[in-house]
Order: sequence, then structure tokens, then C-alpha cells
Amino acid sequence: MTILDLGVPTVPGTSDTTGTTTPADRPDDARLTDRYGRVATDLRVSLTDRCNLRCTYCMPAEGLDWMPTEEALTDDEVVRLVRVAVEHLGVQEIRFTGGEPLLRRGLEDIVAATAALDPRPDTSVTTNGLGLTKRAGRLAAAGLDRVNVSLDTLRPERFAEITRRDRLGDVLDGLAAARDAGLGPIKINTVLMPGLNDDEAPDLLGWALAEGYELRIIEQMPLDAGHSWQRDRMITAEQILDSLRTRFSLRPDPAERGGAPAERFLVDGWERPGGGPARVGVIASVTRPFCGTCDRTRLTADGQVRTCLFARSENDLRSLLRGGGTDDEIATAWRVAMWGKKPGHGIDDPGFLQPDRPMSAIGG
Ligand code: 5AD
Ligand code: SF4
Repeated sequence: MTILDLGVPTVPGTSDTTGTTTPADRPDDARLTDRYGRVATDLRVSLTDRCNLRCTYCMPAEGLDWMPTEEALTDDEVVRLVRVAVEHLGVQEIRFTGGEPLLRRGLEDIVAATAALDPRPDTSVTTNGLGLTKRAGRLAAAGLDRVNVSLDTLRPERFAEITRRDRLGDVLDGLAAARDAGLGPIKINTVLMPGLNDDEAPDLLGWALAEGYELRIIEQMPLDAGHSWQRDRMITAEQILDSLRTRFSLRPDPAERGGAPAERFLVDGWERPGGGPARVGVIASVTRPFCGTCDRTRLTADGQVRTCLFARSENDLRSLLRGGGTDDEIATAWRVAMWGKKPGHGIDDPGFLQPDRPMSAIGG
């Protein structure tokens, strides 16, 4: 598919040698701007759609039909697109996601090449934590700045129920290894689900504070492979805060939020390991959407630009890359893609449709 097939306005406009047409209403701006005044400076790169866990809200027990290897970008192709994003498009932050990005053997090399770019981007990974025990040191040496680790429970039986694998101990060891390697501040991403772990928010916060991790609780979004998400079955930010306040005193963090998805709160009486007040975040993607300040652009493991987690279309950079496109042509195609970014995710619109790809194939 080409950009021209994707409903991007094409006339009148200016066309380069690839046939990518820049819409006439797009200002001459090198950055990833969109029609709503937002500028994407934060790139999420999915490195694989595979995972070694099977979280019930993400994947079926048997896994999914994985992307064929030849369709996934090679390490060199990933690095090329990241370089174009940083050098041509003003991207300042790179987060590697999956599936599970630690399943990618070349991760350290990709991180090293990313950290060597000029200007050097802030580089992080969102992982389920499995394998960090072995690799945290090497990742830090490669130039990785931080990790976010997904963890929904501290109870081994629940962990096995939610992820369908009995690996809680390995995740906790991985977290400690990341902390020892200096990959902080470490953030913990938690999704609460009714009847599964919705009573555990205060325990998770108490643990995170004691360990020096920053907990962020995320509202569950309609991105599960099974399409079983229901608005009225989801734990809302309000419920999350009520639950945390049964044991902790929270105050809104006065620090500037910017494009950050997390609404942050200071936890009275607690300090961060390096000093300063400890925080907890709530990511209310559904009930308090933050699309108006979104600064994200996304790349799937097969080289498609997604303007949003919930986008219904993608723009193909891989064909351009493999067809001999120049850096300038790739940059133009990326800018045109972002110019088509929708104002919001539309989860509450009557006609909302879940994206075809599940979360594991988009990247969190
Ligand atoms: N809603 C919210 N968060 C999700 N994650 C995975 N699926 C969903 C969903 N449907 C989280 C994971 C991980 C991050 C990448 O996204 O727990 O922390
Ligand atoms: Fe794997 Fe993350 Fe999906 Fe769990 S939520 S199965 S850790 S990709």
C-alpha cells in the first residue's frame, strides 16, 4: 500500500520523486507537525510482535500469528529509520517496545547505534522484565537510559493467572538488576482488571515506594487481541485514586505535565531514593484522554508509521526503505503521515472501532 491509498489528501500539493505528495495545507516545517498544532518528538519503536508472556488482556493462550521474519525490519533498517527521525524530524526520545523487546537479539546494538546519534536522544525500553537479570548491564553499557517494566500483581498465583506463566520471581529479579545497572528512574506499568487485581493498588504502591520505583496505573484500553474490552468493566482513574487513598495521602504534582500521559501525584511522607518527593502516576487514557497534547509517533516492527495507538490506517516506510528511498524521501513520507493524525482516539464515539492490530503488534 502507498500513502496515496490511505486517504491522505493529495491535490493540490508538491510531489517528490517517490510520488509522496505533501498536502498543500502543510506548512514547510521539518518537524512531525499535525493539523492540530501538535509536534511529535517521542518515537515508539516496536521491535517484535512476539512475547514470552501471555497476559490475558493482551494475547490468547496459544499466542498470535507472528509476523514473518522477512517482514520485520532488520536491525540496520530500524537504526536507519530512528536516525532519520532524530536527524531529519526533530525526534528527541526513543522508546523501544514490543511485544517483548528483550526478545530481539540485536537490542543492545540498536540501542548503542541510537545513543550514538547527534543530538543524542533519550533512550528507554518498555519490557515485561524477563531477561533483564542477564541484560540490564549490557543495555546500560550500550547507552540505554531507563526501563519501564510492566507488572500487574505481586502475588505469584495471580501473576501466573494474569500472564499464564509462573515467572513473578524472574520479573522482580530483573527489576533489581535494572536498578543496580542504573537504568532509573524505573517506572512500573500496571493495568488493573476487575476481579483479577483491582484490590492490589495500595499494595503495589507500598512496594514500589519501598523499592524506589515509580508506579503508574493505566486504564485498560480496547487493544486486546480478543476484542473483549468493555467500557463498563474497566477500572477508571477515579476508582484507582480512591483505592490508593485508602492507604496513602496524595497531592497533585505541581510539576509541568507537558505531553506526558501520566497524571502524577506526590505521595505524602515518602521520598525518592535520590531525594525529592515520591510520586505515583495514573494514566487515564479512556476517562481523561490526553490526545490534545500527544507528542507521539509510532513505528511497527514491519516498518509502518502509526500516528496513534488507535489509528485505523498506517503509512508504509518499509517499501520506501527497501525500494531505495533516500533519507529525505523517508522523512517526507513520515511528515505526510503525521499530517494525517486524527485529533483523538475516539474511544467514546459511537462508531469507535478497535484497531486491527492488537497492542502486542503496535507497541505500548
Ligand atoms: N490497556 C492498557 N495497557 C495495556 N498494556 C497492554 N495492553 C494494554 C491495554 N489493553 C500495557 C502493558 C505494558 C504496556 C506496553 O501497555 O501492561 O505495560
Ligand atoms: Fe507480553 Fe506485554 Fe502482551 Fe503481556 S501485555 S503478553 S507482557 S506484550
